[in-house]
Amino acid sequence: MKIWGHRGAYSSAPENTLSAFQLAAQMGADGVELDIQLTRDGEIVVIHDETVDRTSNGQGWVKDFTLSEIKKLNFNKRGIAEPLHMEVPTLAEVLELLKPTSLTVNIELKTGVVYYEGIERQALQLVDQYGMADRVVWSSFNHYSVQKIKQLEPSAGTALLCGGGILVTGEQCEKVGAEALHPHVKMLRYPALAEDCRKRGILIRTWTVNSDEELELAMNLGVDTVIVNRIDWAKGVLAHGN
Ligand code: G3P
Ligand code: CA
Repeated sequence: MKIWGHRGAYSSAPENTLSAFQLAAQMGADGVELDIQLTRDGEIVVIHDETVDRTSNGQGWVKDFTLSEIKKLNFNKRGIAEPLHMEVPTLAEVLELLKPTSLTVNIELKTGVVYYEGIERQALQLVDQYGMADRVVWSSFNHYSVQKIKQLEPSAGTALLCGGGILVTGEQCEKVGAEALHPHVKMLRYPALAEDCRKRGILIRTWTVNSDEELELAMNLGVDTVIVNRIDWAKGVLAHGN
């Protein structure tokens, strides 16, 4: 079972920062998950929320900042790691950082709240420029975005995200052409989900796995990948289990 770091090494560095991704690579993760949004001047930045309020010392919508404005904010709000000032990274900067590694990069398109015109095409082109298309998995709760990726680039690795008990099945993945389903870990408790995916050859990658019990459940169900906040813990448990 593979381990991907949720928003980088979420537990050890400010989420979705270059430090978080570097640390995830150092910790030996097989991949990282990250979130993308678009600035006012059309730059793809790696940030989870539609606003900067929770994760930075600023306030406002990502869509209302230019890149140079948002770059001035400090995303190491809690000062939990060095350096004390961390910028929001662009997707290009993260790809540059991870290119020399073998990590898979799961790019989650945050297109469910703000409609970012053309973000799918733009992100695909960027990944292509870095020659990393075969290492990227595209996912979104907005399944139209996943479908768009697949229409623009049929060979792209894609996954449907689901959570909150919303019924998403392997059949829907097949319809969109997604090779994987990324369910919230609590949805693994519904046996029909794993059964349906197994039957159709759809991979399951689940998030966010935070306890020994959840890790064991994922293992027993033959889950392909766990997306975790604590990479070192997950590696330790899996190594011990083997
Ligand atoms: O991609 C899995 C997970 O990251 C989805 O939830 O809210 O952490 O982006 P969220
Ligand atoms: Ca995410």
